[in-house]
Amino acid sequence: MKLSQRQQAHLRSLPARLSAAGYHERELADLFELCDLYVLRDGIGARTLARCQQDTPLAHLGSFWFLGQTRPRALLEDLLGAQALAVLERLDLVQDSPEGVKARALLFPCLGRYLFTDLFAPVGDPQYQVYWLGSDSLGLARCAPRKPVGRSLDLCTGSGVHAVLAASHASEAWGVDINPRALHISRINALMNGQGAVCNFVQGSLYDPLPEGRFGLITANPPFVPTPRGDLAFFRPGGETGEAITEAIVRGLPERLEVGGTLALVSQHPVIRGSHLLDRVESWLGGADGWGLAYLMMAPLDRDEMIAGHIDTPGQFATQLGVEEGAAAYRREFETWLDSYEANGIEGVELGLFYVRRLEPGLPGWRTECQLNLPSGSLSSWVEDWLDAQERFSRPPDPGWRPSWTPGCQRLMLDARNGEGFVFRDPACRLGDFYLSPENAFLLNRADGRQSARQLAQSFALRFERKAGEGLTRLADLGRQLLLS
Ligand SMILES: C[S@@+](CC[C@H](N)C(=O)[O-])C[C@H]1O[C@@H](n2cnc3c(N)ncnc32)[C@H](O)[C@@H]1O
Repeated sequence: MKLSQRQQAHLRSLPARLSAAGYHERELADLFELCDLYVLRDGIGARTLARCQQDTPLAHLGSFWFLGQTRPRALLEDLLGAQALAVLERLDLVQDSPEGVKARALLFPCLGRYLFTDLFAPVGDPQYQVYWLGSDSLGLARCAPRKPVGRSLDLCTGSGVHAVLAASHASEAWGVDINPRALHISRINALMNGQGAVCNFVQGSLYDPLPEGRFGLITANPPFVPTPRGDLAFFRPGGETGEAITEAIVRGLPERLEVGGTLALVSQHPVIRGSHLLDRVESWLGGADGWGLAYLMMAPLDRDEMIAGHIDTPGQFATQLGVEEGAAAYRREFETWLDSYEANGIEGVELGLFYVRRLEPGLPGWRTECQLNLPSGSLSSWVEDWLDAQERFSRPPDPGWRPSWTPGCQRLMLDARNGEGFVFRDPACRLGDFYLSPENAFLLNRADGRQSARQLAQSFALRFERKAGEGLTRLADLGRQLLLS
């Protein structure tokens, strides 16, 4: 739907009004007494519901956009602006009713931006439902690299969230989805956040609808549900292994990712018997050389819960078929899925992100992995440092490098008798505290920015009667661990 310049300006006025009302992730999660906004889909208790009836701008807006509650038109006009509300009505994102105005969309705050998505329960054809911001969406939003790039690409863009976020650090941000309704919502979101001129949304499958050229950042949250069925909403099915679309995205990287560029892909990755995720990624890329691979594992998920979460509930089966037949049909459906998971060796599922960085041609590949909880705010600069450190220290360090402690890794505790010890890092460092062998403690203790890596390696060789090359390798390991820079 085309909006006039004036209507676009009214839409763009919304973020400032929402922000003035305190409509941010943390404040809303506190209002709903939840650890994070993605948990809202499971509903909130009666006590919290009562708390949300306070007469504050945040409580009114939170209840309106997330709890399906009507609010008087005059109140919403006061909070959102009468003309902006009229534009939302024209876009069918809100609807007038005799009881007041009701939301027909969810409105998520995310890292200073605002995103409309469809309601948790679809109002139209479920096939075209536009995905809300789940833990996967938030994981990617908070852990995508954010250094400036020329062109960014968000595959499977849905609400357009990752294209809109990338628009703050890309000169062109592209988003692709097969669902036309997703593109409609994405364009509204880009306009509302003042990114209409930077964002381009195109309809089609993955790389197909794009003009030629490569991208400095590719983000993706592809459909990931391992399923034997093909009739789920666009945002769910990932083929029987759950990785059909993930694989196609990775296979396209040699043609679409520029050197130095990064893919950040979030998913509920299948845990497949006898096969590591990064081995599969490497095989889709056609080998290890020229690619850096990193995996951030966030949370293991139970296989049976995964299945139960994506088939109709026993109650829904009972409504359609009656109690007895419904129960039998539910069991049959569950078992069909279970058989398919077994046949594909799927033992569980893990929420996590993997990154693929394209290296200079001919450089040996590198790999790393680490485990952390879904962060509550942006972790992007840490992710950049982590990936950059893998790349920098995947080769023997320059002997002229003068290693010093990375800021935030200041506290070192050594056992004087045998030289072993621990480093206690800044809590912002996601790699956690670090146990030191006597050899590494020796090197770390002397890395004060004054001695070169060559000098440190020579002292190491004398002290431990080893080759100096081993000292250099150990210094590089400490660099990859973000202890030295
Ligand atoms: C899990 S949702 C992710 C939405 C959004 N990126 C986010 O993080 O919230 C997956 C999206 O992929 C889209 N999709 C499914 N198959 C696709 C394909 N072959 N090419 C492009 N998009 C596709 C769906 O329509 C859906 O919007």
